[in-house]
Amino acid sequence: MLIVKTVDEIRKFTKKEHQAGRKVGFVPTMGALHLGHLDLIRLAAEKSDKVVVSIFVNPTQFAPGEDFEAYPRKLEDDLEKCREAGAAAVFCPERGEVYGGENYIRMHLSTLGNHLCGASRPGHFDGVIQIVNKLFNMVKPDVAVFGQKDIQQFRILEQMAFEFNHDVEIVMGNTVRAADGLALSSRNVYLDRKERIAAPHLFATLQKAGREITQWMEASDVQAKFKKLAAESGKELEKAGFRPDYFELVGYENLQPPEQLKSGTTYVIAAAAYLGKARLIDNVLIKL
Ligand code: PAF
Repeated sequence: MLIVKTVDEIRKFTKKEHQAGRKVGFVPTMGALHLGHLDLIRLAAEKSDKVVVSIFVNPTQFAPGEDFEAYPRKLEDDLEKCREAGAAAVFCPERGEVYGGENYIRMHLSTLGNHLCGASRPGHFDGVIQIVNKLFNMVKPDVAVFGQKDIQQFRILEQMAFEFNHDVEIVMGNTVRAADGLALSSRNVYLDRKERIAAPHLFATLQKAGREITQWMEASDVQAKFKKLAAESGKELEKAGFRPDYFELVGYENLQPPEQLKSGTTYVIAAAAYLGKARLIDNVLIKL
């Protein structure tokens, strides 16, 4: 497995693969890899001939006071996991390689960032589109895989690839869960034993809400109904020890709260909630 730190080296890698007629798959990560990431690598390998994994904790997607400094960094361990998962190359640049020189340009997200994590973490997705835009231009992949757990990120990056004409297929990987339903996340290391036991409540509450909304097809007061459901869900989460951040229903395409639920349309119920030091996010996708 090739391990490279510079844009020149990763470009050479992709160029050689493309010249040989091979497709390059890409899994961008911030490291601290878990089984969820390994599943994305497996999916990328299914869709391409050689997989590149990037490992870079991107400072521009963390707001001041968030966990940029504390974010788990385990490069040696991550490299071993990438090797075992069959990655062909790992791109792990230093900050200066990515953001060296003057940076005068900022990208700002429009309405896809108004709700969910975009509302609770202002500027977060501006940082995500900045780095993924850069990584796409550095790695030049044919296929890129992102997980469903970060559903708003997925939808935004899908749209970014379209609007910025990146010649890359964006593929969604399933959320990988522990046996009790907790979505795997690098931030789960922040949970203590008691919090870890309570953590699966987040997904259970989302699933319950998902079952409920499938009965609202003809309803004209979806917003009012969901407000009530979100308040009840919030109370259940509080009882389990969470400090809820948001619990929202949005259409998948525009990530806006729907007036009515239409058949043939995909919706997302997504939630974020703090449990001790950890901010957990999860979602259910509902195709009506
Ligand atoms: O999902 C992540 O780990 C990050 O947001 C990403 C896509 C690697 C960009 O830094």
